[in-house]
Amino acid sequence: MTTLLFGGDYNPEQWPREVWAEDMTLMRRAGVNTVTVGVFSWASLEPREGEYDAGWLDDVVGMLHDAGIGFFLATPTASPPPWFTRAHPDAMPVRPDGTRLTHGSRDTYAISAPAYRDAARRIARFLAERYGDHPGLRGWHVHNEYGTIDHGPHAEAAFQRWLQRRFGSVEALNDAWYTAFWSQRYDAWDQVTPPRTTQYLANPAHAVDFKRFCSDEMLAAFTEQKDEILAAGSTAPVTTNFMLPTWNHLDQWAWSDRLDLVSVDHYLDTPGPDGEAHVAYGADLTRSWAGGPWLLMEQSASGIRDGARLAHKDTDRMIRNSLGYVARGSQGSLFFQWRASAGGSEAWHSALVPHAGPDSEGFAGTVELGALLGRLEEVAEPPADGRVVDADVAVLWDADGWWSLETPHLPHDGLDYATEVRATHRALWRAGVAVDFVRSGADVARYRVLFVPSLMATDAATVTWLTQYVAGGGHLVVGRFTGVADEHQRVVAGGYPGLLRDLLGVRVTELRPLADDETRRLNDGATCDQWTERVHLTGARAVATYTDGELAGLPAVTRRDDGPGVAADGATRLVQESLDRFVAGLLAEHGVQAVVPAAVGTGLEAVRRRGAHGSYLFLLHHGDRPLRVTGPGHDLVTGAATDGGITVRAGGVAVVRETAGSDGPAPHWLLEPA
Ligand code: GAL
Repeated sequence: MTTLLFGGDYNPEQWPREVWAEDMTLMRRAGVNTVTVGVFSWASLEPREGEYDAGWLDDVVGMLHDAGIGFFLATPTASPPPWFTRAHPDAMPVRPDGTRLTHGSRDTYAISAPAYRDAARRIARFLAERYGDHPGLRGWHVHNEYGTIDHGPHAEAAFQRWLQRRFGSVEALNDAWYTAFWSQRYDAWDQVTPPRTTQYLANPAHAVDFKRFCSDEMLAAFTEQKDEILAAGSTAPVTTNFMLPTWNHLDQWAWSDRLDLVSVDHYLDTPGPDGEAHVAYGADLTRSWAGGPWLLMEQSASGIRDGARLAHKDTDRMIRNSLGYVARGSQGSLFFQWRASAGGSEAWHSALVPHAGPDSEGFAGTVELGALLGRLEEVAEPPADGRVVDADVAVLWDADGWWSLETPHLPHDGLDYATEVRATHRALWRAGVAVDFVRSGADVARYRVLFVPSLMATDAATVTWLTQYVAGGGHLVVGRFTGVADEHQRVVAGGYPGLLRDLLGVRVTELRPLADDETRRLNDGATCDQWTERVHLTGARAVATYTDGELAGLPAVTRRDDGPGVAADGATRLVQESLDRFVAGLLAEHGVQAVVPAAVGTGLEAVRRRGAHGSYLFLLHHGDRPLRVTGPGHDLVTGAATDGGITVRAGGVAVVRETAGSDGPAPHWLLEPA
């Protein structure tokens, strides 16, 4: 039977062999069944160019296997050793200002440098030939968090080749990039460089195309390593770990198509309650990229970086967070890292075995989580159709959308893609409903509401896709400043949002962002900030108008519903509480129910995961008062039947195998104070 994976990055090369033996004992005590080895081990595996020393790794994987612990084997290519730097100084990354980085940290490589690519392929092949059929091998973890951006000569040559493929002619590039402005017209491919530090504002189309190129270039580097692994005959699944929440160097949809298993590293950005919403966001995104089960490759054990400090994360929270990922399709909960380093750059990062050793609250938490995941084993087996979560609403996620909003000199510097998308997801999370993310062009007919919180630059195919969704009876909700430009960041003239004017039935003649201390009120009681637009109705009707400011009486939120579906436009930014109400209203209109309606607003998060053996209701109690939960099922955490009610303590969890099947009507759950 498939199991839930538990463990984390294991870096035995930092420790003497006596510690390895203790590690095996402690891993067994904690129920660890999976570790990731070799992530940054290049210097230990290939101490000199072409000279390999893998005896230590043979011993490590042998000891793990003897202890019944599986492993992901990483290719160590995120951290080239000093000999590589010395031999290939041209393969070091260059910053936009021309600074060439040197060895001394990690990720010091230029992704397009032939010497780097050759060396990466060689070490991948060496590992694949040596360990490709090891019985303990659970999968390949290629590289680590692709995302090092190079602006040097190798990137320049590769970027020029990429542009030639994309545009075919320099004239087409000039047209797309609007180079007539400021005399940027190119006459030959070799005049085009990566975007580098320049005098004033850079060209936005140039910036976005370079992002697209970097994602493709890193994917090519990944694919070369994967090909080496396959050529060596290994059949273990291949993954690489994406990074959330801030890493936006990859088009994750395109990458996910090439991964056998989608995995992610997720580090929360706040120790406050919003971190719980953040877990849900990261997990929903990754499940959606994967199109089914996925794996949480890294999270932190007992610390959360919070500005200047490392805030403490207690065991209850670590357990709730872990189950928040598993509830949304993760096949386990892995961490960075197993044993806290005694030195080096991340000595103060938390770990499953803290500096204090096994006699500590931290390790007790590790043991507790391991035991709990062991009791949930049956959850791991996905249903035949692979759909682990059933959602009626979806949110568009688009890497280009993020890249466009990073270009300079937009009408408001506060436009931030992740902030916009997270605000919509947060509202849905607070409403207690399941959410999928989708890519442009996906089959969205089954979703009752489709949100496009932000997509400044939109291509024609996306416009057609959205139009078809509405024509098919869907309810589309579009956020401000969406559809205003084409895929080359060129503004569509004639009124905003140029490409979506017809669909939305509005024509905007002025963007009127607000000052930081300004807000506006709407006639439905909502408050908005940062952004207003002068909207003319050309087919839509107003559902909310401004009651104050220069635009008083004019539409702020509109809806076109004269066809089979609805196309709604928010021409402002609702503050979170107002957005929450707006979203809750839409859900009610479409009869989209919370997973457990009685739980909404109580602090109890309820998520339903579908499995081969039925459906599982995950109850994660973030609130501070115990709750009594009653419904048909059996709590896998305590073994108790839930029909007569169970108490979920403040901070605690329950995972109920529901008596009704995963495809039948959702069982009814009652909630009351305990
Ligand atoms: C991850 C990385 C790990 C470790 C961790 C610390 O992004 O993959 O190697 O550095 O961050 O938070």
